[in-house]
Amino acid sequence: MINSKLPKIWYGGDYNPEQWDGDTWVEDHRMFKLAGIDVATINVFSWALDQPDEHTYDFAWLDEQFELLHGQGIGICLATGTGAHPAWMAKRHPEVLRVDWEGRKRRFGGRHNSCPNSPVYRRYSTALAGKLAERYGRHPALLIWHISNEYGGYCYCDNCAAAFRGWLRQRYGSLQELNRVWNTRFWGHTFYDWEEIVPPNALSEEWGGSRTNFQGISLDYRRFQSDSLLDCFKLERDAVKALTPDIQVTTNLMGLYPELDYFKWGKEMDIVSWDNYPSIDTPPSFTAMAHDLMRGLRGGQPFMLMEQTPSQQNWQAYNSLKRPGVMRLWSWQAVARGADTVMFFQLRRSVGACEKYHGAVIEHSGHEHTRVFREVAELGRELEQLGDTLLDARADSKVGIIYDWENRWATELSSGPTVALNYAQEVHKYYDALYSRHIQADIIGVEEDFSRYDLVIAPVMYMVKPGFAEKAEAFAAAGGAFITTFFSGIVDQNDLVRTGGYPGELRKLLGIWSEEIDALLPEQRNRIVMTESGELAGGPDAQDGGPRAFAGMRSEYECGLLCDLIHSEGAEVKAVYGDDFYSGMPALTVNRFGEGEAWYVASSPEPAFLRDFLGSLCSRLGIEALVEEASAELEAAVRVKDGKRYLFLLNHGVDEGWAALPAGGGVDLLTGATVGGRVSVPGKGVRIVQSGRIS
Ligand code: GLA
Ligand code: ZN
Repeated sequence: MINSKLPKIWYGGDYNPEQWDGDTWVEDHRMFKLAGIDVATINVFSWALDQPDEHTYDFAWLDEQFELLHGQGIGICLATGTGAHPAWMAKRHPEVLRVDWEGRKRRFGGRHNSCPNSPVYRRYSTALAGKLAERYGRHPALLIWHISNEYGGYCYCDNCAAAFRGWLRQRYGSLQELNRVWNTRFWGHTFYDWEEIVPPNALSEEWGGSRTNFQGISLDYRRFQSDSLLDCFKLERDAVKALTPDIQVTTNLMGLYPELDYFKWGKEMDIVSWDNYPSIDTPPSFTAMAHDLMRGLRGGQPFMLMEQTPSQQNWQAYNSLKRPGVMRLWSWQAVARGADTVMFFQLRRSVGACEKYHGAVIEHSGHEHTRVFREVAELGRELEQLGDTLLDARADSKVGIIYDWENRWATELSSGPTVALNYAQEVHKYYDALYSRHIQADIIGVEEDFSRYDLVIAPVMYMVKPGFAEKAEAFAAAGGAFITTFFSGIVDQNDLVRTGGYPGELRKLLGIWSEEIDALLPEQRNRIVMTESGELAGGPDAQDGGPRAFAGMRSEYECGLLCDLIHSEGAEVKAVYGDDFYSGMPALTVNRFGEGEAWYVASSPEPAFLRDFLGSLCSRLGIEALVEEASAELEAAVRVKDGKRYLFLLNHGVDEGWAALPAGGGVDLLTGATVGGRVSVPGKGVRIVQSGRIS
């Protein structure tokens, strides 16, 4: 549990008192109290203050802040401050500076700027973390460790090159094996000496950001850099854990951030935390998916919302204000999906440098008579009122949707069949279809145990790693429903094609084989034509005697992007293509497998297809929606704890909305009113309905 030392949803955020004087601190404290703020994240970018030179640490300012904040009853999320190295370090030890993708040696500047394989950086960052633990580890205000900040970016320096060779030796053992998995006979790339291997960047194999001549080396470099940064995290984590084994450790992640394999990272931290910065036009279901992904990193354990802006960002092209009510709505959305903290970047807006136009609880006006502050304070009161009610409550999902970083890297590094394939967007299509039907899903990694789900969806499972196919087969054999899509089962973990017909290892489970893959132009479409106009004979539905799998489906839908040209090897054909030379070939199939079934969606369908298909499939599988019906733009999510269900109804629309509650109704946690049947939810408003056993 995250909040045992302060048992309520933590409320606060990044605070930079070092940029202000003592009079301002007094004002800050007064306003924190007014807003119900009880946690401050400090020391995030203060390495240069904490350590003015190689041999000196100076924690006087931090000592003072610990005392002042503690005196005000504010708990501290203590950052180790290693997200940006001091200028003196860069000057004295240029090896801490990164070499960028274009091969340029950086000079001092910016942040997230240290080479993860620099021994000097590792030594100093670990030492600072240790010093902080020594000094503040027993302080009663210390709530949690915040290691570094938003790890990210890659380095291509000589230290990294050497470390990469070591990493490769460990992974492959011999050059012979490395030459095999990278298929280096292509373009005469055979390596005879480890020293011949150089990082893949714009000077060597890559161009255009993520295009590469050799998927093998580029994929491994991503794995390696993710591991290198993770090693930096682990070194600092171990340094603080050695002295404070009972204080939990996190580092703030960034949702679907492409560069780090967060499922691997999730295993190494006590608590997942993340920074949520949607734009005004980000679909709420996309944010919901990101929250669910963060919850999935540690098997459904609640996470921290470490940062969000109270109003606007500074780094987007167009930094819209959060409209009235939206900050509150998005905060509750985070809680609905598993957050046990609501925290901001930042508590007070700075006056100089690039974040001075980034929103803050305390704006440049400096007083509490602002729209933003009023909204922050209102939410503070609500969180206070809820106390520990929701803490550690879990989601309750029967559907797991797979998201895998290595698979994402591989699909996006692939040269062909289309530049338009965006892995996250394809996963989101499936997520969004369920979301719009108010069916809760978890986002899970490939290593997750499938047996707790009734339905597992693996969109664009291009890379099938060892053990995955067997696990999917066992899941289906035991009665599970498995869905995968076009461009699946193509390669192994090394991005080497499985010969013998796609979808390779998944072929037996799916009862099909795929002969060719057509890439459609952006404006080009094909049609998915249901084989029996939605009235199916035979197949899972008829045998179960239950409702038809396709009840309520149209007779045809559009599809695009990629079309796999597949043949059935035992699977039933539920839909065929309507156009082109492959008109009449299967577009949707299902294979009975043991007690369960395995579906193949051979193209990227229009959203309505997935809504209808997944809706009817879930109803046949007995997977219930959280609310039976609701107005447009209403999001539903549930958390459960001690036999009680907390149903969140979030209205992302401007107009008043509604939802039809399940039988029995419940109590509105925020108003105390008993509610049932069809309940209204104000525009941009929220209800949390508690039902079930009342202890
Ligand atoms: C990130 C960082 C913060 C700040 C915010 C601004 O999340 O962690 O330090 O720069 O972005 O949105
Ligand atoms: Zn480096």
